[in-house]
Amino acid sequence: MSSSVSTETSMESSRATESNTAPGPILLLGAPGVGKGTQAKELVKLWSIPQISTGDLLRANVAEGTKLGRVAKEIMGRGELVPDSLVNEMVAVRLLEPDTARGYILDGFPRTLGQATWLDARLSAQIESLPLVAVSIQVNYNQLLRRITGRRNCPVCQTIYNVYMNPPKREGICDVEGAALIQRADDTEEVFKERMRAYTALTAPVVDHYRALGRFAEVDGDRPIAVIAAGIVAAAERLRHAA
Ligand code: AP5
Ligand code: MG
Repeated sequence: MSSSVSTETSMESSRATESNTAPGPILLLGAPGVGKGTQAKELVKLWSIPQISTGDLLRANVAEGTKLGRVAKEIMGRGELVPDSLVNEMVAVRLLEPDTARGYILDGFPRTLGQATWLDARLSAQIESLPLVAVSIQVNYNQLLRRITGRRNCPVCQTIYNVYMNPPKREGICDVEGAALIQRADDTEEVFKERMRAYTALTAPVVDHYRALGRFAEVDGDRPIAVIAAGIVAAAERLRHAA
């Protein structure tokens, strides 16, 4: 065998190995506070693919005072959903980044059937696109409320804490950055109830949509963070190799 044939063969086999091992697009679905962001950060460490959180991207736009941020701020403050056209466009721009080539974790998107249809069409139009895996995380209502009202975030490294269940070593201070922790403006009981209403009316049908398509798993989110992450990895592995 000539050296060029042998090089091509080894490149083909490394591409084949890559497509066998690349996680592809992973959708994390679930109600507000269920642990999508927490799990996305665990999966980033395990798979070295980016977390794409539409909530985080929108909050960054609000903080920067962009046109999108100015529109989104009031909608988010009420616990309602930002219009599909704006969110889809924001996701489309993010998916053009080269770090998404091996896959990405979509955290909080799609959240309406319109967003799901847009994403499905986009993925099916891509040549050699990696198959999508959707994971729905389940936690009961009272636990969600506790998670939302107890959540604190580091404004520097975005680490997520909970004053009741996952507190920092020093009260109010990030373990990693030493920065003062902040509470999200929408993490009140009142706005949480509205977010739950939006979830039930608009996002629960998205879960049903991906359940019907297959390549779908449900995981119990009321367990230790690492145990849930291991469950998501196992489900993704199983579904990736499914017909
Ligand atoms: P977004 O930021 O996505 O909010 P959300 O869906 O309400 O979800 P959260 O971020 O509140 O919860 P999470 O599931 O990430 O939980 P976390 O890991 O932090 O969206 C905000 C707003 O933006 C929306 O209301 C909407 O207006 C807009 N928006 C965003 N995306 C949109 C879209 N696609 N379309 C339209 N509008 C959109 O964990 C929560 C707490 O629980 C933390 O304190 C954590 O420490 C704790 N915790 C997590 N896991 C565990 C565990 N296993 N055990 C104990 N504690 C745990
Ligand atoms: Mg989140």
